[in-house]
Amino acid sequence: MQRILYFRYFLVFLSATFLTVLSAPIPHYDLSKRQTTGGKLVFSHFMIGIVSDRTSASDYDADMQRAKSYGIDAFALNIGVDDYTDTQLEYAYESAANNDMKVFLSFDFNWWDSTDASGIGSKIAQYGSKSAQLTINGKVFVSSFSGDSLDIATVCSIVGLDLFMAPNFHPGEGDFSNLNGALNWMGWPNDGNNKALQEGIDITVTDGDSTYLTTLANKSLIALVSPWFFTHFGMEVTYSKNWVFPSDLLWYQHWNNILTSVPEYVEIVTWNDYGESHYVTPLSSPHTDDGGSKWVNDMPHDGWLDMAKPFISAYKNGSTTVSDYISDDQIIYWYRSTPRDIDCDFTDTTMGTANNMSGNYFNGCPNSWETLTDEVFVVSLLTANGTVTVNSRSTEYSYDALAGASAFSVPMGVGAQAFALTRDGGPVMNGTSLKEIVLECVYGIYNFNAYVRTVPARDSDSLQADGLAALTSGLAVACEATPSLPATAPATVAVTATATPTPAPTVSV
Ligand SMILES: *[C@@H]1O[C@H](CO)[C@@H](O)[C@H](O)[C@H]1NC(C)=O
Ligand SMILES: *[C@@H]1O[C@H](CO)[C@@H](O)[C@H](O)[C@H]1NC(C)=O
Ligand SMILES: *[C@@H]1O[C@H](CO)[C@@H](O)[C@H](O)[C@H]1NC(C)=O
Ligand SMILES: *[C@@H]1O[C@H](CO)[C@@H](O)[C@H](O)[C@H]1NC(C)=O
Ligand SMILES: *[C@@H]1O[C@H](CO)[C@@H](O)[C@H](O)[C@H]1NC(C)=O
Repeated sequence: MQRILYFRYFLVFLSATFLTVLSAPIPHYDLSKRQTTGGKLVFSHFMIGIVSDRTSASDYDADMQRAKSYGIDAFALNIGVDDYTDTQLEYAYESAANNDMKVFLSFDFNWWDSTDASGIGSKIAQYGSKSAQLTINGKVFVSSFSGDSLDIATVCSIVGLDLFMAPNFHPGEGDFSNLNGALNWMGWPNDGNNKALQEGIDITVTDGDSTYLTTLANKSLIALVSPWFFTHFGMEVTYSKNWVFPSDLLWYQHWNNILTSVPEYVEIVTWNDYGESHYVTPLSSPHTDDGGSKWVNDMPHDGWLDMAKPFISAYKNGSTTVSDYISDDQIIYWYRSTPRDIDCDFTDTTMGTANNMSGNYFNGCPNSWETLTDEVFVVSLLTANGTVTVNSRSTEYSYDALAGASAFSVPMGVGAQAFALTRDGGPVMNGTSLKEIVLECVYGIYNFNAYVRTVPARDSDSLQADGLAALTSGLAVACEATPSLPATAPATVAVTATATPTPAPTVSV
Protein backbone atom coordinates (compact mmCIF):
# COMPACT_ATOMS: atom_id res chain seq x y z
CA MET A 1 0.00 0.00 0.00
CA GLN A 2 1.44 3.33 -1.02
CA ARG A 3 1.50 5.73 1.85
CA ILE A 4 2.86 8.61 -0.07
CA LEU A 5 -0.41 10.47 -0.34
CA TYR A 6 -1.08 10.90 3.26
CA PHE A 7 0.69 14.17 3.80
CA ARG A 8 -0.34 15.97 0.69
CA TYR A 9 -2.00 18.75 2.52
CA PHE A 10 -0.16 18.43 5.73
CA LEU A 11 1.75 21.63 5.24
CA VAL A 12 -0.04 24.75 4.32
CA PHE A 13 2.07 27.82 4.43
CA LEU A 14 0.46 30.80 5.90
CA SER A 15 0.60 34.39 5.29
CA ALA A 16 0.29 37.08 7.87
CA THR A 17 -1.59 39.01 5.24
CA PHE A 18 -4.41 36.47 5.48
CA LEU A 19 -5.12 37.86 8.89
CA THR A 20 -5.37 41.44 7.81
CA VAL A 21 -8.32 41.10 5.42
CA LEU A 22 -11.12 39.80 7.55
CA SER A 23 -14.27 40.95 5.86
CA ALA A 24 -13.45 42.28 2.45
CA PRO A 25 -16.25 42.72 -0.07
CA ILE A 26 -16.50 40.15 -2.83
CA PRO A 27 -13.58 40.88 -5.14
CA HIS A 28 -14.16 41.81 -8.73
CA TYR A 29 -11.83 40.70 -11.42
CA ASP A 30 -10.54 42.90 -14.21
CA LEU A 31 -12.42 41.67 -17.26
CA SER A 32 -10.07 43.31 -19.76
CA LYS A 33 -7.34 40.82 -18.90
CA ARG A 34 -9.29 37.91 -20.31
CA GLN A 35 -8.61 39.00 -23.83
CA THR A 36 -4.98 38.06 -23.36
CA THR A 37 -5.18 35.22 -20.88
CA GLY A 38 -8.01 33.12 -22.30
CA GLY A 39 -9.76 33.19 -18.94
CA LYS A 40 -12.92 31.73 -17.47
CA LEU A 41 -11.71 28.16 -17.58
CA VAL A 42 -12.80 25.53 -15.06
CA PHE A 43 -10.32 22.96 -13.79
CA SER A 44 -10.66 20.02 -11.42
CA HIS A 45 -7.90 18.65 -9.20
CA PHE A 46 -7.19 15.03 -10.08
CA MET A 47 -5.08 12.87 -7.75
CA ILE A 48 -2.74 10.73 -9.82
CA GLY A 49 -1.50 9.20 -6.55
CA ILE A 50 -4.60 7.05 -6.01
CA VAL A 51 -5.04 5.65 -9.52
CA SER A 52 -2.04 3.30 -9.71
CA ASP A 53 -4.47 0.46 -10.56
CA ARG A 54 -5.29 1.91 -13.98
CA THR A 55 -3.80 -0.09 -16.82
CA SER A 56 -4.54 1.86 -20.01
CA ALA A 57 -5.41 5.28 -21.35
CA SER A 58 -8.99 4.11 -21.80
CA ASP A 59 -9.25 3.74 -18.01
CA TYR A 60 -9.30 7.57 -18.00
CA ASP A 61 -11.91 8.00 -20.70
CA ALA A 62 -14.92 8.06 -18.37
CA ASP A 63 -13.33 10.80 -16.25
CA MET A 64 -12.47 12.89 -19.30
CA GLN A 65 -15.94 12.52 -20.82
CA ARG A 66 -17.73 13.16 -17.55
CA ALA A 67 -15.70 16.26 -16.73
CA LYS A 68 -16.21 17.64 -20.21
CA SER A 69 -19.94 17.04 -20.08
CA TYR A 70 -20.14 19.26 -16.99
CA GLY A 71 -18.16 22.07 -18.62
CA ILE A 72 -14.81 21.34 -16.98
CA ASP A 73 -12.01 22.38 -19.35
CA ALA A 74 -8.96 20.70 -17.86
CA PHE A 75 -7.72 18.44 -15.10
CA ALA A 76 -4.96 19.66 -12.81
CA LEU A 77 -3.02 16.40 -12.50
CA ASN A 78 -1.69 16.35 -8.94
CA ILE A 79 1.59 14.44 -8.88
CA GLY A 80 3.85 13.24 -6.12
CA VAL A 81 6.97 11.19 -6.73
CA ASP A 82 5.44 7.68 -6.81
CA ASP A 83 7.10 5.20 -9.15
CA TYR A 84 3.88 4.84 -11.18
CA THR A 85 3.50 8.58 -11.83
CA ASP A 86 4.86 8.59 -15.39
CA THR A 87 2.87 5.53 -16.41
CA GLN A 88 -0.33 7.17 -15.23
CA LEU A 89 0.54 10.59 -16.67
CA GLU A 90 1.10 9.02 -20.08
CA TYR A 91 -2.34 7.38 -19.88
CA ALA A 92 -3.99 10.59 -18.70
CA TYR A 93 -2.45 12.75 -21.44
CA GLU A 94 -3.37 10.15 -24.07
CA SER A 95 -6.96 9.82 -22.87
CA ALA A 96 -7.34 13.60 -22.68
CA ALA A 97 -6.15 13.87 -26.29
CA ASN A 98 -8.60 11.16 -27.36
CA ASN A 99 -11.48 12.94 -25.62
CA ASP A 100 -10.72 16.54 -26.54
CA MET A 101 -9.90 17.47 -22.94
CA LYS A 102 -6.93 19.41 -21.59
CA VAL A 103 -4.64 18.53 -18.69
CA PHE A 104 -1.71 20.14 -16.89
CA LEU A 105 0.74 19.18 -14.16
CA SER A 106 0.15 20.25 -10.57
CA PHE A 107 3.26 19.52 -8.52
CA ASP A 108 2.52 18.44 -4.97
CA PHE A 109 5.26 19.96 -2.83
CA ASN A 110 4.54 17.70 0.06
CA TRP A 111 6.48 15.26 -2.12
CA TRP A 112 8.43 17.30 -4.58
CA ASP A 113 11.42 19.23 -3.27
CA SER A 114 10.95 22.90 -4.09
CA THR A 115 14.72 23.35 -4.39
CA ASP A 116 14.73 20.76 -7.20
CA ALA A 117 14.10 23.22 -10.05
CA SER A 118 15.83 20.94 -12.55
CA GLY A 119 13.72 17.89 -11.67
CA ILE A 120 10.57 19.98 -11.94
CA GLY A 121 11.72 21.60 -15.16
CA SER A 122 12.47 18.29 -16.80
CA LYS A 123 9.10 16.86 -15.77
CA ILE A 124 7.36 19.85 -17.37
CA ALA A 125 9.48 19.41 -20.50
CA GLN A 126 8.51 15.73 -20.65
CA TYR A 127 4.77 16.51 -20.95
CA GLY A 128 4.53 20.14 -22.02
CA SER A 129 4.54 19.49 -25.77
CA LYS A 130 1.85 16.81 -25.73
CA SER A 131 -1.30 17.68 -27.61
CA ALA A 132 -3.58 17.53 -24.54
CA GLN A 133 -1.43 19.97 -22.57
CA LEU A 134 -3.37 23.10 -21.54
CA THR A 135 -1.70 26.17 -22.96
CA ILE A 136 -2.61 29.84 -22.62
CA ASN A 137 -1.52 31.81 -25.68
CA GLY A 138 0.99 29.07 -26.42
CA LYS A 139 2.31 28.97 -22.85
CA VAL A 140 2.37 25.62 -21.05
CA PHE A 141 0.13 25.84 -17.97
CA VAL A 142 1.71 24.58 -14.71
CA SER A 143 0.33 24.65 -11.16
CA SER A 144 1.08 23.19 -7.74
CA PHE A 145 0.09 22.52 -4.19
CA SER A 146 2.37 24.82 -2.08
CA GLY A 147 6.03 25.20 -3.17
CA ASP A 148 6.62 28.87 -2.29
CA SER A 149 10.40 28.59 -2.44
CA LEU A 150 10.50 27.20 -5.99
CA ASP A 151 12.79 29.28 -8.22
CA ILE A 152 10.50 30.03 -11.16
CA ALA A 153 13.16 31.72 -13.29
CA THR A 154 15.36 28.63 -13.10
CA VAL A 155 12.47 26.31 -13.97
CA CYS A 156 11.60 28.47 -16.99
CA SER A 157 15.20 28.49 -18.19
CA ILE A 158 15.46 24.70 -17.96
CA VAL A 159 12.22 23.79 -19.72
CA GLY A 160 12.81 25.52 -23.02
CA LEU A 161 9.07 26.09 -23.54
CA ASP A 162 7.09 29.20 -22.70
CA LEU A 163 5.39 28.56 -19.38
CA PHE A 164 2.26 29.90 -17.73
CA MET A 165 3.21 29.38 -14.08
CA ALA A 166 0.23 29.48 -11.70
CA PRO A 167 1.37 27.61 -8.58
CA ASN A 168 -0.11 27.67 -5.10
CA PHE A 169 2.30 30.32 -3.80
CA HIS A 170 1.11 32.27 -0.78
CA PRO A 171 0.95 36.05 -0.45
CA GLY A 172 3.75 37.10 1.86
CA GLU A 173 5.60 33.81 1.34
CA GLY A 174 6.42 33.13 -2.30
CA ASP A 175 7.95 35.50 -4.84
CA PHE A 176 5.11 36.38 -7.22
CA SER A 177 7.24 38.45 -9.59
CA ASN A 178 7.91 35.68 -12.12
CA LEU A 179 4.46 34.09 -11.92
CA ASN A 180 1.63 34.36 -14.44
CA GLY A 181 -0.92 33.53 -11.79
CA ALA A 182 -1.51 31.66 -8.55
CA LEU A 183 -3.90 29.18 -6.96
CA ASN A 184 -5.52 30.04 -3.60
CA TRP A 185 -5.83 26.59 -2.03
CA MET A 186 -7.83 27.69 1.01
CA GLY A 187 -11.30 26.92 -0.29
CA TRP A 188 -12.84 26.49 3.16
CA PRO A 189 -13.48 29.09 5.87
CA ASN A 190 -10.44 28.81 8.11
CA ASP A 191 -8.45 30.43 10.90
CA GLY A 192 -5.41 31.35 8.80
CA ASN A 193 -3.53 28.40 10.24
CA ASN A 194 -4.97 25.50 8.19
CA LYS A 195 -7.63 24.81 10.79
CA ALA A 196 -11.29 25.46 11.10
CA LEU A 197 -12.72 28.55 12.69
CA GLN A 198 -11.51 29.13 16.20
CA GLU A 199 -13.08 31.72 18.37
CA GLY A 200 -12.61 35.22 17.00
CA ILE A 201 -10.83 34.31 13.77
CA ASP A 202 -12.67 33.52 10.58
CA ILE A 203 -11.10 33.93 7.18
CA THR A 204 -13.59 33.28 4.44
CA VAL A 205 -12.66 31.89 1.05
CA THR A 206 -13.57 35.29 -0.37
CA ASP A 207 -11.18 37.04 2.05
CA GLY A 208 -8.42 34.74 0.85
CA ASP A 209 -9.23 35.43 -2.80
CA SER A 210 -9.12 39.19 -2.09
CA THR A 211 -5.66 38.88 -0.58
CA TYR A 212 -4.50 36.94 -3.61
CA LEU A 213 -5.99 39.45 -6.04
CA THR A 214 -4.17 42.27 -4.27
CA THR A 215 -0.88 40.41 -4.40
CA LEU A 216 -1.40 39.22 -7.97
CA ALA A 217 -2.19 42.67 -9.32
CA ASN A 218 -2.54 42.00 -13.04
CA LYS A 219 -1.86 38.28 -12.81
CA SER A 220 -4.38 35.47 -12.90
CA LEU A 221 -6.16 33.99 -9.89
CA ILE A 222 -7.20 30.35 -9.82
CA ALA A 223 -10.05 30.45 -7.30
CA LEU A 224 -10.85 27.21 -5.56
CA VAL A 225 -14.33 25.83 -5.01
CA SER A 226 -14.78 22.81 -2.79
CA PRO A 227 -17.86 21.13 -1.38
CA TRP A 228 -16.55 19.62 1.87
CA PHE A 229 -13.58 18.69 4.04
CA PHE A 230 -13.36 15.78 6.44
CA THR A 231 -10.34 13.59 6.92
CA HIS A 232 -9.75 10.93 9.54
CA PHE A 233 -6.42 9.26 8.95
CA GLY A 234 -4.97 7.72 12.07
CA MET A 235 -1.62 6.83 13.46
CA GLU A 236 -0.96 4.60 10.44
CA VAL A 237 0.21 7.81 8.78
CA THR A 238 2.65 8.51 11.64
CA TYR A 239 0.85 11.66 12.51
CA SER A 240 -2.87 11.44 12.48
CA LYS A 241 -4.72 13.75 10.08
CA ASN A 242 -8.09 14.24 11.61
CA TRP A 243 -10.18 17.34 11.09
CA VAL A 244 -13.08 19.08 9.41
CA PHE A 245 -13.50 22.45 7.79
CA PRO A 246 -17.05 23.76 8.15
CA SER A 247 -18.64 23.29 4.74
CA ASP A 248 -22.42 22.99 5.10
CA LEU A 249 -23.77 24.97 2.11
CA LEU A 250 -20.31 26.24 1.10
CA TRP A 251 -20.54 24.56 -2.33
CA TYR A 252 -23.72 26.49 -3.15
CA GLN A 253 -22.66 29.73 -1.52
CA HIS A 254 -19.21 29.88 -3.08
CA TRP A 255 -20.47 29.05 -6.56
CA ASN A 256 -22.76 32.05 -6.13
CA ASN A 257 -19.74 34.13 -5.08
CA ILE A 258 -17.92 32.97 -8.21
CA LEU A 259 -20.71 34.27 -10.45
CA THR A 260 -20.24 37.74 -8.97
CA SER A 261 -16.49 37.82 -8.41
CA VAL A 262 -15.71 36.13 -11.76
CA PRO A 263 -12.17 34.95 -11.08
CA GLU A 264 -10.13 34.24 -14.16
CA TYR A 265 -9.93 30.50 -13.47
CA VAL A 266 -11.84 28.20 -11.14
CA GLU A 267 -10.53 24.91 -9.76
CA ILE A 268 -12.87 22.31 -8.28
CA VAL A 269 -11.10 20.62 -5.38
CA THR A 270 -11.23 17.81 -5.95
CA TRP A 271 -12.21 15.33 -8.59
CA ASN A 272 -11.12 12.22 -6.72
CA ASP A 273 -9.51 12.89 -3.36
CA TYR A 274 -11.70 10.50 -1.43
CA GLY A 275 -9.59 10.62 1.75
CA GLU A 276 -10.36 14.31 2.35
CA SER A 277 -14.05 13.88 1.43
CA HIS A 278 -14.07 16.56 -1.27
CA TYR A 279 -14.41 14.27 -4.30
CA VAL A 280 -17.15 15.02 -6.84
CA THR A 281 -16.66 12.07 -9.16
CA PRO A 282 -18.46 8.77 -8.58
CA LEU A 283 -17.23 6.26 -5.99
CA SER A 284 -17.01 3.75 -8.84
CA SER A 285 -14.27 5.71 -10.61
CA PRO A 286 -11.27 3.31 -10.55
CA HIS A 287 -8.91 4.07 -7.67
CA THR A 288 -6.99 2.44 -4.84
CA ASP A 289 -7.75 2.77 -1.14
CA ASP A 290 -5.43 5.09 0.79
CA GLY A 291 -7.36 4.20 3.96
CA GLY A 292 -10.20 6.65 3.30
CA SER A 293 -12.78 3.98 2.46
CA LYS A 294 -13.71 3.79 6.17
CA TRP A 295 -15.48 7.12 5.75
CA VAL A 296 -16.09 7.01 1.98
CA ASN A 297 -17.97 3.73 1.56
CA ASP A 298 -21.70 4.35 0.92
CA MET A 299 -21.07 8.11 0.61
CA PRO A 300 -21.67 9.08 -3.04
CA HIS A 301 -20.99 12.71 -3.98
CA ASP A 302 -21.76 12.82 -7.70
CA GLY A 303 -24.88 14.94 -7.14
CA TRP A 304 -22.58 17.82 -6.22
CA LEU A 305 -21.39 18.06 -9.81
CA ASP A 306 -25.03 18.24 -10.91
CA MET A 307 -25.46 21.21 -8.61
CA ALA A 308 -22.39 22.88 -10.07
CA LYS A 309 -23.30 22.33 -13.71
CA PRO A 310 -25.53 25.38 -14.29
CA PHE A 311 -23.13 27.52 -12.24
CA ILE A 312 -20.22 26.39 -14.44
CA SER A 313 -22.23 27.34 -17.54
CA ALA A 314 -23.22 30.70 -16.12
CA TYR A 315 -19.66 31.50 -15.01
CA LYS A 316 -18.19 30.60 -18.38
CA ASN A 317 -20.80 32.67 -20.16
CA GLY A 318 -20.22 35.69 -17.90
CA SER A 319 -23.72 35.52 -16.45
CA THR A 320 -24.79 36.06 -12.85
CA THR A 321 -28.17 34.46 -13.58
CA VAL A 322 -27.91 30.74 -12.99
CA SER A 323 -31.61 30.24 -13.74
CA ASP A 324 -30.92 30.68 -17.46
CA TYR A 325 -28.84 27.49 -17.34
CA ILE A 326 -31.32 25.20 -15.56
CA SER A 327 -33.28 23.05 -17.98
CA ASP A 328 -34.71 20.36 -15.66
CA ASP A 329 -36.07 20.31 -12.12
CA GLN A 330 -33.61 18.75 -9.71
CA ILE A 331 -33.17 18.56 -5.94
CA ILE A 332 -29.67 17.91 -4.58
CA TYR A 333 -29.44 17.09 -0.88
CA TRP A 334 -26.65 16.19 1.50
CA TYR A 335 -26.03 15.48 5.15
CA ARG A 336 -23.74 13.68 7.55
CA SER A 337 -25.10 10.35 8.68
CA THR A 338 -24.70 11.12 12.38
CA PRO A 339 -25.09 14.16 14.61
CA ARG A 340 -21.82 15.91 15.44
CA ASP A 341 -21.79 15.06 19.13
CA ILE A 342 -21.93 11.31 18.59
CA ASP A 343 -19.45 9.62 20.92
CA CYS A 344 -17.27 7.06 19.16
CA ASP A 345 -14.29 7.39 21.49
CA PHE A 346 -14.43 3.81 22.73
CA THR A 347 -14.45 2.15 19.33
CA ASP A 348 -12.65 4.73 17.22
CA THR A 349 -9.14 3.44 17.60
CA THR A 350 -7.97 4.61 14.20
CA MET A 351 -6.05 7.36 15.97
CA GLY A 352 -4.61 5.20 18.75
CA THR A 353 -6.11 5.09 22.18
CA ALA A 354 -4.91 8.19 23.99
CA ASN A 355 -6.85 11.42 23.64
CA ASN A 356 -3.90 13.22 22.17
CA MET A 357 -4.74 16.72 21.00
CA SER A 358 -2.29 18.57 18.81
CA GLY A 359 -3.62 20.96 16.22
CA ASN A 360 -5.42 19.12 13.47
CA TYR A 361 -3.61 15.95 14.31
CA PHE A 362 -5.02 14.29 17.31
CA ASN A 363 -6.68 11.13 18.39
CA GLY A 364 -10.36 10.37 18.31
CA CYS A 365 -13.00 12.95 17.54
CA PRO A 366 -12.08 15.09 14.51
CA ASN A 367 -10.75 18.52 15.34
CA SER A 368 -13.30 21.33 14.91
CA TRP A 369 -16.28 18.97 15.01
CA GLU A 370 -18.12 21.69 16.90
CA THR A 371 -18.12 23.90 13.78
CA LEU A 372 -20.44 21.44 12.01
CA THR A 373 -24.16 22.03 12.04
CA ASP A 374 -26.61 19.16 12.50
CA GLU A 375 -28.65 19.93 9.40
CA VAL A 376 -29.82 18.46 6.15
CA PHE A 377 -28.77 20.71 3.25
CA VAL A 378 -30.94 21.10 0.17
CA VAL A 379 -30.38 22.88 -3.15
CA SER A 380 -33.19 23.07 -5.65
CA LEU A 381 -32.61 23.77 -9.33
CA LEU A 382 -36.05 24.63 -10.67
CA THR A 383 -37.41 25.54 -14.07
CA ALA A 384 -40.39 27.29 -12.42
CA ASN A 385 -41.50 28.29 -8.93
CA GLY A 386 -42.35 25.34 -6.71
CA THR A 387 -42.50 24.08 -3.15
CA VAL A 388 -39.74 21.81 -1.88
CA THR A 389 -40.64 19.66 1.10
CA VAL A 390 -38.29 17.76 3.39
CA ASN A 391 -39.55 15.15 5.79
CA SER A 392 -36.75 14.58 8.31
CA ARG A 393 -37.74 11.87 10.74
CA SER A 394 -41.29 13.05 11.37
CA THR A 395 -41.10 16.78 10.89
CA GLU A 396 -42.11 18.25 7.56
CA TYR A 397 -40.42 21.41 6.30
CA SER A 398 -41.78 23.28 3.27
CA TYR A 399 -39.82 25.85 1.32
CA ASP A 400 -41.24 28.04 -1.44
CA ALA A 401 -38.41 27.88 -3.94
CA LEU A 402 -38.25 30.21 -6.91
CA ALA A 403 -37.36 29.29 -10.45
CA GLY A 404 -33.58 29.07 -10.50
CA ALA A 405 -31.27 27.86 -7.75
CA SER A 406 -32.08 28.13 -4.05
CA ALA A 407 -30.77 26.51 -0.93
CA PHE A 408 -31.96 25.91 2.57
CA SER A 409 -31.37 23.60 5.49
CA VAL A 410 -33.47 21.84 8.08
CA PRO A 411 -32.50 20.34 11.45
CA MET A 412 -31.26 16.77 11.15
CA GLY A 413 -33.87 14.32 12.40
CA VAL A 414 -32.61 10.83 13.21
CA GLY A 415 -34.17 8.33 10.79
CA ALA A 416 -35.43 8.54 7.20
CA GLN A 417 -35.08 11.64 4.99
CA ALA A 418 -37.61 12.29 2.22
CA PHE A 419 -37.72 15.06 -0.38
CA ALA A 420 -40.49 16.24 -2.70
CA LEU A 421 -41.25 18.95 -5.21
CA THR A 422 -44.82 20.12 -5.68
CA ARG A 423 -46.12 22.81 -7.99
CA ASP A 424 -49.57 24.34 -8.24
CA GLY A 425 -50.70 21.97 -5.51
CA GLY A 426 -49.73 18.79 -7.35
CA PRO A 427 -46.74 16.42 -7.04
CA VAL A 428 -43.86 16.86 -9.50
CA MET A 429 -41.30 14.44 -8.14
CA ASN A 430 -40.16 12.96 -4.86
CA GLY A 431 -37.80 10.44 -3.34
CA THR A 432 -36.61 9.00 -0.04
CA SER A 433 -32.91 8.77 0.71
CA LEU A 434 -31.38 5.31 0.98
CA LYS A 435 -29.32 6.49 3.95
CA GLU A 436 -30.87 7.10 7.32
CA ILE A 437 -29.38 9.40 9.91
CA VAL A 438 -28.30 7.21 12.80
CA LEU A 439 -27.05 7.46 16.37
CA GLU A 440 -24.39 4.83 15.72
CA CYS A 441 -20.71 4.85 14.95
CA VAL A 442 -20.64 3.09 11.59
CA TYR A 443 -17.51 0.83 11.58
CA GLY A 444 -16.95 2.16 15.10
CA ILE A 445 -15.47 5.45 13.89
CA TYR A 446 -16.32 9.12 13.58
CA ASN A 447 -17.58 9.74 10.06
CA PHE A 448 -18.32 13.36 9.18
CA ASN A 449 -18.26 12.83 5.40
CA ALA A 450 -21.42 13.83 3.51
CA TYR A 451 -23.98 11.63 1.80
CA VAL A 452 -25.09 13.41 -1.39
CA ARG A 453 -27.99 12.38 -3.60
CA THR A 454 -30.58 13.83 -5.91
CA VAL A 455 -34.25 13.75 -6.83
CA PRO A 456 -34.84 12.36 -9.42
CA ALA A 457 -32.53 9.65 -8.08
CA ARG A 458 -29.23 9.01 -9.82
CA ASP A 459 -28.00 5.51 -10.54
CA SER A 460 -26.53 3.84 -7.48
CA ASP A 461 -22.81 4.39 -7.06
CA SER A 462 -20.48 2.11 -5.11
CA LEU A 463 -16.80 1.72 -4.35
CA GLN A 464 -15.18 -1.06 -6.35
CA ALA A 465 -12.87 -3.72 -4.89
CA ASP A 466 -9.64 -1.67 -5.15
CA GLY A 467 -11.33 1.25 -3.44
CA LEU A 468 -12.39 -0.93 -0.49
CA ALA A 469 -9.10 -2.78 0.02
CA ALA A 470 -8.09 -1.07 3.28
CA LEU A 471 -11.55 -0.69 4.82
CA THR A 472 -11.20 -3.17 7.65
CA SER A 473 -7.59 -2.44 8.59
CA GLY A 474 -7.29 -0.73 11.94
CA LEU A 475 -10.97 -0.99 12.86
CA ALA A 476 -11.95 -2.12 16.34
CA VAL A 477 -15.30 -3.51 15.21
CA ALA A 478 -15.82 -6.41 12.83
CA CYS A 479 -17.29 -5.46 9.47
CA GLU A 480 -17.30 -6.44 5.85
CA ALA A 481 -15.59 -4.36 3.19
CA THR A 482 -18.61 -4.13 0.89
CA PRO A 483 -21.04 -1.42 -0.17
CA SER A 484 -24.03 -1.61 2.14
CA LEU A 485 -26.71 0.85 1.07
CA PRO A 486 -30.07 -0.87 0.76
CA ALA A 487 -31.69 -1.33 -2.65
CA THR A 488 -34.90 0.29 -1.52
CA ALA A 489 -35.47 3.31 0.67
CA PRO A 490 -36.47 2.97 4.31
CA ALA A 491 -40.08 3.75 5.19
CA THR A 492 -40.68 7.33 6.15
CA VAL A 493 -42.23 8.16 9.49
CA ALA A 494 -45.66 9.79 9.48
CA VAL A 495 -45.51 13.56 9.74
CA THR A 496 -46.32 14.76 13.24
CA ALA A 497 -45.08 18.34 13.04
CA THR A 498 -44.42 21.04 10.49
CA ALA A 499 -41.70 23.68 10.63
CA THR A 500 -39.94 26.29 8.52
CA PRO A 501 -36.53 25.65 6.92
CA THR A 502 -33.63 28.09 7.18
CA PRO A 503 -32.68 29.78 3.88
CA ALA A 504 -29.00 29.66 2.91
CA PRO A 505 -27.09 32.54 4.50
CA THR A 506 -26.46 35.32 1.99
CA VAL A 507 -23.13 36.43 3.48
CA SER A 508 -20.07 35.68 1.41
CA VAL A 509 -18.16 32.58 2.43
C1 LIG B 1 -2.07 46.22 -15.43
O1 LIG B 1 -2.35 46.20 -16.81
C2 LIG B 1 -2.73 47.47 -17.30
C3 LIG B 1 -3.18 47.30 -18.75
O2 LIG B 1 -2.27 46.53 -19.47
C4 LIG B 1 -1.57 48.44 -17.14
O3 LIG B 1 -1.95 49.71 -17.62
C5 LIG B 1 -1.18 48.52 -15.69
O4 LIG B 1 -0.04 49.32 -15.53
C6 LIG B 1 -0.90 47.14 -15.13
N1 LIG B 1 -0.71 47.24 -13.69
C7 LIG B 1 0.28 46.63 -13.08
C8 LIG B 1 0.33 46.80 -11.59
O5 LIG B 1 1.09 45.95 -13.66
C1 LIG C 1 0.60 12.24 20.51
O1 LIG C 1 0.76 12.28 19.10
C2 LIG C 1 2.08 12.61 18.70
C3 LIG C 1 2.08 12.78 17.20
O2 LIG C 1 0.96 12.28 16.63
C4 LIG C 1 2.99 11.48 19.15
O3 LIG C 1 4.33 11.77 18.78
C5 LIG C 1 2.93 11.37 20.67
O4 LIG C 1 3.69 10.26 21.10
C6 LIG C 1 1.48 11.16 21.12
N1 LIG C 1 1.41 11.22 22.58
C7 LIG C 1 0.72 10.33 23.29
C8 LIG C 1 0.68 10.55 24.76
O5 LIG C 1 0.12 9.39 22.76
C1 LIG D 1 -24.46 32.86 -23.26
O1 LIG D 1 -24.97 34.17 -23.27
C2 LIG D 1 -25.37 34.61 -24.55
C3 LIG D 1 -25.70 36.11 -24.47
O2 LIG D 1 -26.22 36.46 -23.21
C4 LIG D 1 -26.55 33.77 -24.97
O3 LIG D 1 -27.00 34.18 -26.25
C5 LIG D 1 -26.11 32.31 -25.03
O4 LIG D 1 -27.20 31.48 -25.32
C6 LIG D 1 -25.51 31.87 -23.72
N1 LIG D 1 -24.90 30.58 -23.84
C7 LIG D 1 -25.42 29.49 -23.27
C8 LIG D 1 -24.62 28.24 -23.42
O5 LIG D 1 -26.45 29.52 -22.64
C1 LIG E 1 -42.56 33.16 -8.71
O1 LIG E 1 -42.66 33.62 -7.37
C2 LIG E 1 -42.29 34.99 -7.21
C3 LIG E 1 -42.28 35.29 -5.73
O2 LIG E 1 -43.48 34.92 -5.14
C4 LIG E 1 -43.25 35.86 -8.00
O3 LIG E 1 -42.86 37.19 -7.91
C5 LIG E 1 -43.24 35.41 -9.46
O4 LIG E 1 -44.21 36.14 -10.16
C6 LIG E 1 -43.51 33.93 -9.58
N1 LIG E 1 -43.35 33.52 -10.96
C7 LIG E 1 -44.37 33.01 -11.65
C8 LIG E 1 -44.08 32.67 -13.08
O5 LIG E 1 -45.46 32.79 -11.16
C1 LIG F 1 -44.68 11.33 -4.85
O1 LIG F 1 -44.93 11.11 -6.23
C2 LIG F 1 -46.04 10.26 -6.48
C3 LIG F 1 -46.09 10.02 -7.98
O2 LIG F 1 -46.17 11.25 -8.65
C4 LIG F 1 -47.31 10.91 -5.95
O3 LIG F 1 -48.40 10.05 -6.12
C5 LIG F 1 -47.14 11.23 -4.47
O4 LIG F 1 -48.24 11.98 -4.01
C6 LIG F 1 -45.88 12.04 -4.25
N1 LIG F 1 -45.65 12.25 -2.82
C7 LIG F 1 -45.33 13.44 -2.33
C8 LIG F 1 -45.08 13.48 -0.86
O5 LIG F 1 -45.26 14.44 -3.02
